[in-house]
Amino acid sequence: MNTLRDLYIDELKDLWSAEKQLIKALPKMAKAANDPELSKAFMTHLRETERQVERLEQVFEELGESPRGKKCIGMEGLIEEGQELLKEKPDPDVLDAGLIAKAQHIEHYEIAGYGTVRTYAQLLGAERQAQLLQQTLDEEGKTDKLLTQLAESSINIEAATAEGDEEEEETTRGARGRSEREVSRRTTVEGGRGGARGGGRGRSGGRAKETESTAR
Ligand SMILES: [Fe+2]
Repeated sequence: MNTLRDLYIDELKDLWSAEKQLIKALPKMAKAANDPELSKAFMTHLRETERQVERLEQVFEELGESPRGKKCIGMEGLIEEGQELLKEKPDPDVLDAGLIAKAQHIEHYEIAGYGTVRTYAQLLGAERQAQLLQQTLDEEGKTDKLLTQLAESSINIEAATAEGDEEEEETTRGARGRSEREVSRRTTVEGGRGGARGGGRGRSGGRAKETESTAR
C-alpha cells in the first residue's frame, strides 16, 4: 500500500464488508427490539444499507476494482457486542436501550469511515464518488439522530424505570433491599409530580402505564 488511492480502496473494502455484515445483523436487531418504533427504525436502516452497498459497488466499478477481499474486523466486533447483549437477556426496556447504544456505536463507526473515504475521493479528484459517499454519510447521520430521538423520547426513560418490573419478580434479594428501593422509587415519582402519589403516570411514553401496572 503506497498511495492514497491504495488506502482509499482499502477503506472502501472495509466499508463494503462492514455493510454486508450489517445487512445480516439488522433483521436480528429488529426482531430482538421490543419497541415497535425501534424495530421499524432497524428495518428502515436495512433498506438504506442495501442501497449503501450498491453505492459502494458503483464506486468500485468506477475505480475498476473489486470490493471483495477484506473483512471489517471493527464491524465484526461491534456486532458481536450486540449479540453478547442479547445473550444477557436483559429486561425488555433495558434491552431496547442497549440495542440503541450498540446501533449508535455502529453508526459512529460508519460515519468515521464514510467521512474519511469521502475526503479521500475529493483529494483524488473523484467528485462523483465523493458525492455518492456523501449521500451515505448523510444517511448514517440521520439514522444516528433518529436513534438519539428514540432513546430520549421514551426508551431510555422506560429502561430507567424498568427496576419496578424487576421488584415484582425478584425473590432473592430480600425484603429490606426491596423496601429501600420502593422508597427511592416513590421519592422519585413524588418529586416529579409535585408531591402527588400514584405511580408513574406522569412519565412520558405510551408504555409508562403498562410499566406502572406490572410494578405494583
Ligand atoms: Fe451503513
